Amino acid sequence: MTFLASPRVEAFFDTDSSTFTYVLYSGDGSDCAIIDSVLNFEPKACRTHTTSADAIIAFVRSRELRVQWLLETHAHADHLSAAPYLQQVLGGMIAVGSGILKVQNAFQKIFHLSPDVKLDGSQFGHLFEPDEQFNVGPLTLRAMHVPGHTPADVAYVVDGAADEPALAFVGDTLFMPDVGSARCDFPGGSAYTLYRSVQRLLQLPPQTLLLLCHDYPPDGRLPSFETTVAQQRLANIHLRDSVTEDEFVEMRQRRDATLGMPALILPAIQVNIQAGELPPPEANGVRYLKIPLNVL
Ligand SMILES: [Fe+2]
Repeated sequence: MTFLASPRVEAFFDTDSSTFTYVLYSGDGSDCAIIDSVLNFEPKACRTHTTSADAIIAFVRSRELRVQWLLETHAHADHLSAAPYLQQVLGGMIAVGSGILKVQNAFQKIFHLSPDVKLDGSQFGHLFEPDEQFNVGPLTLRAMHVPGHTPADVAYVVDGAADEPALAFVGDTLFMPDVGSARCDFPGGSAYTLYRSVQRLLQLPPQTLLLLCHDYPPDGRLPSFETTVAQQRLANIHLRDSVTEDEFVEMRQRRDATLGMPALILPAIQVNIQAGELPPPEANGVRYLKIPLNVL
């Protein structure tokens, strides 16, 4: 008889960017994946540090885990990825959805990056095609493409063991039911596309646990990282079952028009489209980011 291993998840919260980073594993000493890591960035001084990533490293070491994958749900606009730092310390393959090529091309125009910067996704160790399956130790995952917030968003769906619900790391698609959905106004984003992606997520079994990339809790509620398909279909303020595509698109576009750009979009995107690699040092040993004027 074969027993499926149970997925185990440890969640970490980066308070500066309201980001959840997850470690997915199946037991002490198992293989693991780290999903959506954060490199801390102090914008006023333009200094990076690794406090958030070091907490992940401590957890991985305490459970004697082997890092197989460093997964990104998309090229984040609100924080820099710590994947290269974690890879240097712990190993693992950095991966994202194959839609990253569209994001690289869109932002190459905005940043006018050096011709040395490849636009073929080769900075990443692996690019997932739609519904590609892969493993984290004994766990089977599926890279479900869920574009809309950006063209490269992926939800990583994990089969549950017998009698256990499946899990899905949904990235920036749905947020908690009282927060709603991710914005769709970045280059290549589309509210229509997000609506259709979310409908596919909501076809997962009702008890499926949805693990979020962010939470922005309304007054008085503590940050929360998990919800279920059933809760979202019943109560999501933007995407519950009764909301039509046209209603969602009208609401999302109206709301996005009121939102300012994320504080770290310019530093974050130019690093994250290159798998989190910081620009190489110039002759004086200092790394420089580019800040385009009047393009966003
Ligand atoms: Fe995002």
